[in-house]
Amino acid sequence: MTTPSTTLQTDPETRVVDVAIDNGHALVTIDNPPVNPLSVSVRKDLMEAVRLVNEAKCKTAALVCAGRTFVAGGDISEFAGPPPLPHLPDVLNAIEASETPFIAVMHGTVLGGGLELALACAWRIADEKTKFGLPEVNLGLIPGAGGTQRLPRVIGLERAARMAANGKPVNARTFEEFGGLDLVFSGDPVQAIASFRDNLPARPQNTSARPVADADLTALKAEITKSAKGADAPMIALETTALAARVSFEEGSKIERQTHLDLRTSAQSRALRRLFFASRSVTRPERLKAFQPAEIKHVAIVGGGLMGAGIAAASLAAGHRVTMLERDTESADAGSGRVEAIIAKDLASGRITEAKANARRAAFSAGADYASAADADIAIEAVFEDPEVKRAVFSQLADVMSETALIATNTSYLDPNMISEGMPGPGRFLGLHFFSPANIMKLVEVVGTSVTTDQTMSTAFAFARGLGKIPVETGVCDGFIGNRILSAYRRQADYMVADGASPYDVDAAMRGLGMPMGPYELQDRTGLQISWANRKRQLAAGTWPGRYVDIADKLCEMGRQGRGSPAKKGWYDHTSGSGKPDPDIEAMVAAWRTEHSTAQQSFSADDIVIRIMAAIVNEANLILEEGIATSDTAIDIVWTEGYGFPKHLGGPMFWAEETGMDRMREAFAAIEAQSPGSWKAAGVFKS
Ligand code: NAI
Repeated sequence: MTTPSTTLQTDPETRVVDVAIDNGHALVTIDNPPVNPLSVSVRKDLMEAVRLVNEAKCKTAALVCAGRTFVAGGDISEFAGPPPLPHLPDVLNAIEASETPFIAVMHGTVLGGGLELALACAWRIADEKTKFGLPEVNLGLIPGAGGTQRLPRVIGLERAARMAANGKPVNARTFEEFGGLDLVFSGDPVQAIASFRDNLPARPQNTSARPVADADLTALKAEITKSAKGADAPMIALETTALAARVSFEEGSKIERQTHLDLRTSAQSRALRRLFFASRSVTRPERLKAFQPAEIKHVAIVGGGLMGAGIAAASLAAGHRVTMLERDTESADAGSGRVEAIIAKDLASGRITEAKANARRAAFSAGADYASAADADIAIEAVFEDPEVKRAVFSQLADVMSETALIATNTSYLDPNMISEGMPGPGRFLGLHFFSPANIMKLVEVVGTSVTTDQTMSTAFAFARGLGKIPVETGVCDGFIGNRILSAYRRQADYMVADGASPYDVDAAMRGLGMPMGPYELQDRTGLQISWANRKRQLAAGTWPGRYVDIADKLCEMGRQGRGSPAKKGWYDHTSGSGKPDPDIEAMVAAWRTEHSTAQQSFSADDIVIRIMAAIVNEANLILEEGIATSDTAIDIVWTEGYGFPKHLGGPMFWAEETGMDRMREAFAAIEAQSPGSWKAAGVFKS
């Protein structure tokens, strides 16, 4: 006999857990869409469910979740203040101590609090596609409800410490091999529960009561220190997990909980949580919510070079049909080869199956005939950065495509208004600025022209999100949000090199801040010629702002155009593989300084960082004032997603606030004094 769910004595208005008892076995269902987070109502109801199944003396209680996943985590919207009662550790302790043993029956993504909940149950069974992880470190936190103390008691110290510290999920088969699961099933969970109950193993010792064997974590510590790149939480998670072998469960859990609560207010966690929420809101502008995005099935990509191939691969991965257009069949073959190389790499690394790879190959074609783009829903051009070439491509696309289909440019610096001017259906043109490698990098700047319709923007945002990207709206200016700030960054770096800093010291200082590489390493990586061409364009147009340092131009003239250039040299010497500082560059820079009689100064690593950040933050504020970016978080998303600014530092705007605007103003005054007339001050920096 099944009893109805109304026996739970919690507020029916907020009730999110259902208990049904059948033949002495309970089925406890959490239904808290969309991902069943452990909000206060779930915690209250679970407490009540434990009471109820024990009162009914149930033989077992199977804990399942409605919807697409088992509990996918805590409720991070509760993290800003003190957590309301009951606290999760108490709920989990009650489940573990329950006379009626709980079986966690899982599917989807069992993350954070979800995994902690499962670890408190007597048994764990899961669908074969389930993933398990402790991703708290990604938000600058560590688990707060026994995760670091129960997980090592189930899968061993080293594995648990790795999962807690790197935040990466593992799949069901791996978690089963680790000893984390009692059964992996495929298909119907009801059936799986029934057969598990039919052969119910003896109730194991409660997780918290099990011993933990100590392990040598030296190698793991070195690995995590390296991968954390200055983020604190990963090492704290590791150290807290290590406590499991040294102190009692109660003691370890107390320390874990306190550490978790302390970290909630840390700057790093606030930074990461702000970015997490912003990456949801920035990608869904309020203004566009009233529009229904048009469906995209067929994507045309013009230009099969580095960017075109990456955008094509990303579109194929999202399930679109892709037609690539090139100048001639030979170039089309080369473009196809680049797309195939990406698919083959994904296949070789195990990221996709053979069937998926073949589906992508089947959905792809390349040629030189624009007629094949006639029924495309969106076209993206990624041809040479030349306005005339781009206009010709836009015009040919407009000739064959429907007037409702979108036509986008991937230009880095050119004005999409100018590329589309005078063409039919002006509201459907826009910029979609992907970052390299476009199949991997998540950022896409979405650039409306002065006449792009909101309908077009809405479709473009939905398309980009569908590719798994983070679209950010930007107005038109030289370099949009990201590259315009990059230009200011490079300018200040060059000014310091001109006035006495070694480019290698500048790189080291920015790496010290947590950037993956410094500005000169980055130039060597991407090639010096693109920004050289851009500087020439700005000089010719008279738009270069202020002092001009032409050291990079000299490198280009010498054929030192970066790692990928025939000379295999740029700021560094790459002839032996890895880039090495080059005494020739030091000598050349020294000669340049003498020739230009620049006042020699010495810059400490801190001076370098704060001056570069002053230039970045000033430009970012100008961008906000001009309405190019819609919010400071949009800027921080662009710089963390597109340029490797450390997420745990929150992005340049967050960093500036944390550092203190007085210090930033002081640093801005210093860069103004260093290069008079070179910086237009944003409102916050006006004296
Ligand atoms: P690329 O030189 O690797 O590829 C350009 C491709 O366009 C070549 O395969 C060429 O054959 C083809 N092409 C040239 N004219 C054509 C035409 N009329 N019709 C069809 N195909 C034509 O260049 P890359 O790096 O892929 O850049 C393409 C665009 O993307 C440029 O506007 C660039 O500014 C922009 N971009 C580049 C980034 C990068 O990191 N390389 C990042 C973001 C944007």
